[in-house]
Formats: sequence, C-alpha cells, structure tokens
Amino acid sequence: MNALKETLAKTLCEAPGMEGFTPSSLAELFDTPPDPAMGDLALACFKLSKLMRKSPVAIASDLSAYLTEHPVNGIFKSENAGGYLNFFVSDAYRVSILKGILDQGEAYGTNETGKGKTMVIDYSSPNIAKRFHIGHLGTTIIGNSIKLLHRFCGYRTIGINYLGDWGTQYGKLVVAFKHWGSEETIREKGIDELNRLYVLFGTQAEKDPSLNDEARAEFNKLESGDEENLRLWRMFKEISLKEYMKTYDLLGIQFDSFNGESFYSDKMPAVVDELREKGLLKLDDGASIVDLSAYHMPPCLILKRDGSSLYPTRDIAAALWRKKEYDFDKCVYVTSAGQSLHFAQWFKVIGLMGYDWEDQLVHVPYGTFSINGEKIASRTGNVVLLDDLFRDAIEKAGAIIDEKNPDLEDRDKVAEAVGIGAVIFNSLLSNRIKDVDFNWNEALNFEGNTGPYAQYSYARACSILRKETDELEIPDDPALCTEEKDLITVLSAFPEKILRAVKEYEPSVITRYALDICQSFNRFYNSCPIRGALPEEKAVRLGLCKAVKTTLGSALHLIGLKTPEKI
Ligand code: ARG
Repeated sequence: MNALKETLAKTLCEAPGMEGFTPSSLAELFDTPPDPAMGDLALACFKLSKLMRKSPVAIASDLSAYLTEHPVNGIFKSENAGGYLNFFVSDAYRVSILKGILDQGEAYGTNETGKGKTMVIDYSSPNIAKRFHIGHLGTTIIGNSIKLLHRFCGYRTIGINYLGDWGTQYGKLVVAFKHWGSEETIREKGIDELNRLYVLFGTQAEKDPSLNDEARAEFNKLESGDEENLRLWRMFKEISLKEYMKTYDLLGIQFDSFNGESFYSDKMPAVVDELREKGLLKLDDGASIVDLSAYHMPPCLILKRDGSSLYPTRDIAAALWRKKEYDFDKCVYVTSAGQSLHFAQWFKVIGLMGYDWEDQLVHVPYGTFSINGEKIASRTGNVVLLDDLFRDAIEKAGAIIDEKNPDLEDRDKVAEAVGIGAVIFNSLLSNRIKDVDFNWNEALNFEGNTGPYAQYSYARACSILRKETDELEIPDDPALCTEEKDLITVLSAFPEKILRAVKEYEPSVITRYALDICQSFNRFYNSCPIRGALPEEKAVRLGLCKAVKTTLGSALHLIGLKTPEKI
C-alpha cells in the first residue's frame, strides 16, 4: 500500500492550497482507520488546517472533490467524515498487489538500497577457551539477522567473527597447561578441559600471586613468537573453534572471516605510532591514553604501563585494516549494551585521527538474557550453556511433535528446526535493547507469539498448496472478503518492514511482522474455505497461500529460522 500512499500524496499535493506540502511530508500524515468499514487509509485534516488556514471539514471536502476530478488508480472512493478524509482501496488494486507479489516470488521484499555497497559486520566473537553460554546468543543471532537483512537489500556483506584470542588470559592458560594439563586430556575433553584449566589458574593465583607474573611472561613469549607457546595457543584455538562450529552449524550461521584479535597483534605498533604522530597520545600515570574529556567521556586506553596493547587499541587497528581491505560503507558491531562506552570512545578516536568515516562505524547494542526469570551470573559459575539450552529446546519440541503428529517423517530434523527456532524467535521478538527472558512454556507454545506458531502457520500454507495443485488464473477484478483484503494489506507491508528493520538494525521488526502475517493468514484460513470454493475464489485464495508461503518464508529466514514444510 506504500506505493498507493505515495501516488495519493503526490496527487493531493497538486490540489489548490496544498503548496505548503511535499508528497513525502504529506505521506507521513496518513493513518490506517481503526475500523476497515471506515476506509483503508485516512488523512486527519486537522493536521493540515494550521498551514492551510482552513477548517478540517472544509479541507476534507475540498480534497475529496479534487480527487473526483483527478482520480487515483486504486482508490475508488474518498469521503469526508468529520474532518477525516477516508480513502477506499479497490479490490482490483489489491489483487494487482497480490499478483505483483506472486510475480516477484522469492525476490519479493528485496530492494537495491545496498547495491554496490559493502557492509562489514562483527558479531558473535566469543573469547576462546570458554564454552558458548547464553550471553553469546544475542550477538550471534542478532548479528546474523542484520547481515541477512542487508544482503536482502543488495549489500555485499562480510560477516566477521572477531575471536577474542589474544591477551594475558592466554598466558594464564599456557601456565595452567604447563603446570597441570596434558595435551591428551585436552584432545579428549576439548573445551571443558580448557575451561577447567583456566578456572584452576584463577583459584591457584589467588593463593600464589607469582603465577600472574608467570602468565605475563608466557604471554610476552607468545607475543614475541615463541614456538612452543604459539603451538599451544594454536591448539587452544583449534579446539575452541571446533566446538563453536558445531553451534554455528546448528544455527545455520556462516562467517566470511575468523580474523580475531590475534590477527591484529602485529598491526598494533603502527597504530600506536600514528596516534603519537597525530599528537593524540597522552601519558597518564605511565599508561598511554587519548583524552576524550572534551566529548564527556573517560579517556580511551591505548597502552598499559608495561607497554602492552588493550581492547580499544586492537579495535582501532582492526577497523583501519577492515577499511583498507573491504572499503566498507558501514562496519557494524553487535555486542551487549555493556560495551557501548567502549565503542563510543574508540569511534571518537577514529574521528580524531582525521578519518572521515567515523560515522560509518555503527554499534548495535542489546539487552541481557535470562531463563525463567533467572539472571545469568557467570561469576558464580551459574552459566547456562548454549548447548544445554538448545538440547533442552530440541527435546521439548520433539515431545510436542510426537504428541501432535506421531508419524511425522524427518521427525528429528523438524524437532531441531522447531526447538532452535523457538529460542531464536523468542530472543528476537522484542526490541533488541530490552532484556529477554526465556519461559519454556511460552517460547514453545504452538498457539502463542512463538517460533513454533510461525513455523506451523508456514507449514499449513505448504500443506494447502500440496493438496490443491490446480493452476488457476487469478481474475483481475474479483470481489474480496474482509479477511482476504486484510491479508493482502499485511503482505503488502513487507518491503517497508525490510527497510525499517535495516535502518534501525532491528530484527524484531521482522519477527513481529511474521506474527502479523500468521495472524492474518489464520483468520483468512478459518473464514475462507478453499475446498468447494468457486474457481474464481479458489484462484485468489490459492494465490494468497502462495504469497504467504514466500513472504512468511523469507521473513523467517531473515531472522534465522528454518521452515520445515511439514510439522
Ligand atoms: N570478544 C568480545 C567479548 O566476548 C566481543 C568482541 C566484540 N567485537 C569487537 N570488535 N570488539 O566480549
């Protein structure tokens, strides 16, 4: 309906007395009436009356008269209702929208706003040697969805997993390994053993602080290329990655690069020199900082007193390298809101270095995650591991499926898609900055605002299309019932939802839109029978099922869900 709104606004702007408006400023003023009987679009003319110095009623009736003389294709009636100008969209126009969707097929909703542009997205990015826990879920699935949405808009996308694989903690791991570990056990137990060693280091270092000096020394050796330490570090990384890949495979997530913090270790000195040459570095109690007080922020820490680099230093080096390597139009970072200051600080440093692409750097923060109301306290060891979460979800989904549809083929695959889908959908339902809570009963309810409900609606559309294979031509001007009209209106919103989701870096726009489609589709399904319908009706209804299948399918894929055809 957006195109129609634009044409309407353009025509109305040419009416006498409308000089104060532009088509786009006027288009902003349209609303959807609360009751479809009042019309499909409305213009509240009191919003125009100040500028036009005319009463809303007079404006509405003048504009209505103007439209009678200058008809807009698609609007078959406009009427003045107490200062509101209500527009009625013709069924023929709606059917033309439906046909347009069907013609575009899978491409429906795509656009070319990103054509010729590159977006780099840094997401997931766990610190190696630790198991994936629920704190990593947000960045992983929000990042994935934002990447897919950009690709849908024609961007070249580069997904980067900026592994946290450098820093003194790897010196600690080397020390722990040398004292208490063995390669055999690590190969056998994988990341759990690395985790055990890391935790053990912590408890031992409390008793014997000299272990910390040892760790620093081992990290220094690692930094200066010591063969043995490098070999160990590579093993830690390889073991961790192997574990992470399982989770990424389960989620269907791919990366274009795994260049983590270590990749930039040899690129840091040049950055520090550059900062110094540009006069940005200041000594502060032996450490080197960039003063940001003029921007009401604490200083950005560049070098510790012992000369080693820090998290912001590595991010600056990485951004400079990525700009050269990919020539991005935007570089997006998805992390918890707790890191917002860190990003604001070093983005500012990029600007102070004289780079004009500071505003191409985008931080996308999100809220915290909890399960059944319990916050995740990683310090107390009360972490919920992603593997466990997914295993639970798949099991629970499987049990529901066994009850609903005991003979389902591909049962395990479907249970996986539905269980994981439930977790993802629930996580992407609210605005990302809000805190997310998993309540198993809610997240897996096939009748609630859930992933299973959306996947089930999709499967329902597929099932209808499997049974009804007639190839029927949709007539140009059939009579539509309310549910059919409503469904077309909802489907027509897809392109604008995509634009909004990308503009706001907000996958929840798509999650909620998927629910709009499901609700409208299910109302249609319950009131508009297909079997026994007249051929003309049947053609429209099957067309609607097809359009739901492609639109809902695309929406769900864009938030990272799989769409089984049978559930
Ligand atoms: N490894 C970091 C962490 O686990 C997240 C990295 C985010 N990306 C970045 N370029 N700083 O907290």
